[in-house]
Amino acid sequence: MEKKVVNILEKYNQTHILNYINLLKQEEIKNLEKQILKIDFEELQTLYEKTKEKPEIRENKIEHINYINKEKLSTKKKQELEDIGSNVIKNEHYAVITLAGGQGTRLGHSGPKGTYMLNTKNGQKYIFEIFIDSFKKAKTEYNIEVPWYIMTSKENHKETVEFFENHNYFGYNKNKVKFFMQGELPLLDTNGKVILNKEKQIKEAANGNGGIYESFAKSGLLEEIKQKQIEWIFVNNIDNIISNFIDPLLLGLTIQEKQKIGAKSVAKTNPKEKVGVFCKIDEKPQIIEYIDLPEKLAEKKDENGELLYGEVNIGAYLFNISVLEDLARIKLPYHAAFKKSAYLLENGEYIEPESPNVYKFESFIFDAFKRYNNVSILRVKREEEFAPVKNKEGTDSPETAIKLYNAKL
Ligand code: UD1
Repeated sequence: MEKKVVNILEKYNQTHILNYINLLKQEEIKNLEKQILKIDFEELQTLYEKTKEKPEIRENKIEHINYINKEKLSTKKKQELEDIGSNVIKNEHYAVITLAGGQGTRLGHSGPKGTYMLNTKNGQKYIFEIFIDSFKKAKTEYNIEVPWYIMTSKENHKETVEFFENHNYFGYNKNKVKFFMQGELPLLDTNGKVILNKEKQIKEAANGNGGIYESFAKSGLLEEIKQKQIEWIFVNNIDNIISNFIDPLLLGLTIQEKQKIGAKSVAKTNPKEKVGVFCKIDEKPQIIEYIDLPEKLAEKKDENGELLYGEVNIGAYLFNISVLEDLARIKLPYHAAFKKSAYLLENGEYIEPESPNVYKFESFIFDAFKRYNNVSILRVKREEEFAPVKNKEGTDSPETAIKLYNAKL
């Protein structure tokens, strides 16, 4: 290996990589060297050190967040807000970004999650196809084709684009569908060492959906939507098959409340539901993931007997374009998750571990919310807007999601 590469490995205690050299062909060594030169080991080292600290949440700083319940809006108010939102959509100032860079590991699907097929009352449908159905419906309703931007990752980009090409974009205007790739970070074992994959390269993984801000700008698409005079961008998760993402109501509400970010929530079913919830920390809007919410707080109720931290994040956000511009250059914090990941041994054996063995670092899209004073939150009915496909079986599985999808047909 080149001297400057070896120096990096020495500086950051990664010299175990040199023990693999005998397994590698000349070209593989070159690729590995290139990869090492690109990795920010300084940042990785800091991230590894942080895995040893416990995140601190001070109870007195957490507060409930206000929201508007769609069910409680008068017909007149609803109409007023929808009119404001409809104008934005009709005038082509609206676009959608779908976060689809994650892996469908929990679902047991090997391809991109959007290529997962479901047996619905409408016949067999891929998740991506279900999304296209909504774009087509909006075309009939508003007489415009809403642009769709899909965030992929290195692991699934090619397959995602090919899938759309092979299915002829399910009959939607292909010029309205664009893809951009998020970044990635190496996985680290419990000693802070990088691991190698089957291809004998350092194993990296998508760096979380917070990668959207940087990668959307870097891809040139932010500039493109600016030129198209798009003002509002709805961002959603790929796994919610009844996501109502062309919704004038949330738009109208966010505009009327003079906020730059809007989001939809549903009521949490029980304190143990494995979801993120909205709250305010130090008076700024935030989402706390279930693992970070202390049990005592998760169970706290308000005077009406409702969970105090009961506004579930369903991965449905609305951003003013100025937010995407502001956040293009900021660094979000990374959260470490302990996961299972196969790796190469120095003797060439490829090991599939039985239990978690590596740290994966991810930034979260909503960690940027605290930079703003408030977020407009619209509570909607779960059965109308939230049917995620996450697990193979049980809750949030294809079976439960299809039931909700079918009920809406
Ligand atoms: C997410 C939310 C959680 C919310 C739940 C509702 C995050 C971090 N958490 O949990 O607050 O209650 O949805 O269903 O968003 N993704 C990427 N790139 C990545 C990682 C993920 O594009 O590197 C995408 C996924 O494809 C998916 C979305 O982000 O569309 C959320 O995925 P994931 O990070 O797995 O979060 P959840 O556990 O689903």
